[in-house]
Amino acid sequence: MKILITGGAGFIGSNFIHYWLKNHKEDYLLNLDKLTYAGNLENLKEIHSHAHYQFVKGDICDSKIVHEVMKGRDVVVHFAAESHVDRSIMTPAIFTQTNVNGTLILLEAALKNKVSRFHHISTDEVFGSLGLEEKSKFSEISPYLPRSPYAASKASSDHFVRAYWETYGLPITISNCSNNFGPYQHPEKLIPLAITNLLEGKKVPVYGNGRNVRDWLFVEDHCRAIDQILTSGKTGETYCIGGLTEDISNLEVIKKVIKILGKDEKLIQFVPDRPGHDLKYAINWSKIKNELNWKPQSDFDTWLNITVGWYKKNISWWKRLKNLSFEKYYRKQYNDL
Ligand code: NAD
Ligand code: DAU
Repeated sequence: MKILITGGAGFIGSNFIHYWLKNHKEDYLLNLDKLTYAGNLENLKEIHSHAHYQFVKGDICDSKIVHEVMKGRDVVVHFAAESHVDRSIMTPAIFTQTNVNGTLILLEAALKNKVSRFHHISTDEVFGSLGLEEKSKFSEISPYLPRSPYAASKASSDHFVRAYWETYGLPITISNCSNNFGPYQHPEKLIPLAITNLLEGKKVPVYGNGRNVRDWLFVEDHCRAIDQILTSGKTGETYCIGGLTEDISNLEVIKKVIKILGKDEKLIQFVPDRPGHDLKYAINWSKIKNELNWKPQSDFDTWLNITVGWYKKNISWWKRLKNLSFEKYYRKQYNDL
């Protein structure tokens, strides 16, 4: 099988490429990535000259390149996106450009080239926010209520993907997953930011009162879920993917990281809240469990220990990302914390 992967130099995409080459040795992967600030070929250096892997630097909004790389592909797994909520609040337009227009260009090319599956990676943020005390969870039938520019752009892309199935019969699947964590995640996101700041002896910024809740999914569990969907999922369907955490607040997550690293809780710094900050995400993943026999392989604490260990071992990897342009972003976001 020949697979086009978009955004494969980012966090989840690069984990997916490693996973797929290990588990599907007969397949050929082509990775199309623009290499924005979030794209990093170092994530893929071990497989850079693998006989079944090819990299093309390019923008999913560039229709010519997209049509070129789509030729002869059987399957598309679409990860490429602007992915950080805080950046979407600062600069929303690029989120529409990449996440909506880029997806549309890919859908057109996929249709023209008659791919047998277009899998779209989406997020639970399209469903909006649960109340902190609410017991229900997001599922495949939850209404769309995006509340940040990032979530709005992902919701729009989901609608286009579904429209290409309904209108043109493009064989699509969509997955809406919760917060991923694990190796190769950019230090702009909460868990890697906390780990790397603590390793540098810096404070960890916690928005608002730290009571917001996320549902944490280890990236390798996510990759196995995508595998199950590609292998056994039904076209036209959506699958929700989540982890094993129940109502864990951001503050509790940070305290766990501090404990693993043997640091002091005095390093927690409460900072002004994110505008429109979603209170809580929680995913009901019983559909993918019951229909495709997927579940996370380990609990949050086990995966968190492994993740912290990875960042401790790969200091030069994240130091290079905490460069001048990251510092500039950091100062703007956290007001010289
Ligand atoms: P990331 O920011 O780490 O990586 C995004 C990748 O896309 C980068 O390699 C970047 O260079 C590339 N890219 C960006 N714009 C591009 C363009 N115009 N053309 C080609 N490549 C481009 O993101 P991630 O965390 O790996 O997320 C991957 C996907 O999963 C995204 O679609 C995101 O919305 C979704 N998602 C992420 C999470 C999470 O917790 N990280 C959770 C749910 C869904
Ligand atoms: O739910 C899936 C989504 O998870 C993905 O679609 C997004 O691509 C991904 O970035 C992530 O979005 P979040 O906004 O939930 O992730 P982030 O790591 O930015 O923040 C996690 C929580 O921690 C959130 O409640 C905000 C809070 N936070 C974040 C940062 C960066 C802080 O308190 N301090 C921080 O410095």
